[in-house]
Amino acid sequence: MTGNTGAEVIGIDLRQSISVQERTALNRAFVEHGVLVVRDQDLAPTQVLGAAELFGTVFHQHNTRFAIPECPEVHYISNQDRYPDGTRYIPGEGWHTDHSNDTRPPKATLLHAVTLPDVGGDTQYANMAAAYSALPAGMRERIAGLMAIHVYQSSHSDRQLMRLSEANRERVPNAVLHPIVRTHPENGRKSIYINPIRIEGIVGFDHREALPLLEELLHHATQEAFQYRHERRSGDLVIWDNRCLLHKANGDYDMGQARYLYRLMLQGDVPT
Ligand code: SIN
Repeated sequence: MTGNTGAEVIGIDLRQSISVQERTALNRAFVEHGVLVVRDQDLAPTQVLGAAELFGTVFHQHNTRFAIPECPEVHYISNQDRYPDGTRYIPGEGWHTDHSNDTRPPKATLLHAVTLPDVGGDTQYANMAAAYSALPAGMRERIAGLMAIHVYQSSHSDRQLMRLSEANRERVPNAVLHPIVRTHPENGRKSIYINPIRIEGIVGFDHREALPLLEELLHHATQEAFQYRHERRSGDLVIWDNRCLLHKANGDYDMGQARYLYRLMLQGDVPT
């Protein structure tokens, strides 16, 4: 889709059985391109689950309030939800990588749209491997070996997540440490691994030092040159690699129109 991110998959029906060769090719393309856009699908929640399992094992989401009753492994994204104070909740706004506050964060996330606004609501991606490669040598040295502290909700983030229920809170770690530079377990490429909504700090740094550094990395990594902006077509199933991409949803459309998608994540490894 761009020089560094995204590939389009056409001519496949994910409701049908997929051969071993096709599955291998899909997984190879996923690791190589970071985002796969599988066109012209029409999948019910159980079929989204089946499609996801071609790429890995389901990751159990931390907040179960968005689970779809008939297939709870699949969650939904909707612009019709509201915070307890009545304001609209736009899931996924602001650059992030999914659930980095887990010891083994999800390697991938899938979205399949059910209802889309007429215009807008794109998902943007920033390729953190390309961004890492383009860092000046001095910055690479500065961040080598640094560990970030990830929590469910960073106190430094403007974006507020939906609060966890008591039961959900019990199974979510309080804080985990992950390297700021991680190596992709399948292609060996190094990426910047940061997350503005989840990172509370950097080990050994005070906030006056950590926050400007994180801001500088985010500013660098989200330059246009490292971005792919997905203008969703009806029927797209999109899967992306959280190990080497940031992403964000855009709440730039008419909120009188519904935006509703099925969403599922896949289990990843401990970042190293
Ligand atoms: C997400 O952050 O997983 C959702 C992205 C989107 O709704 O476009």
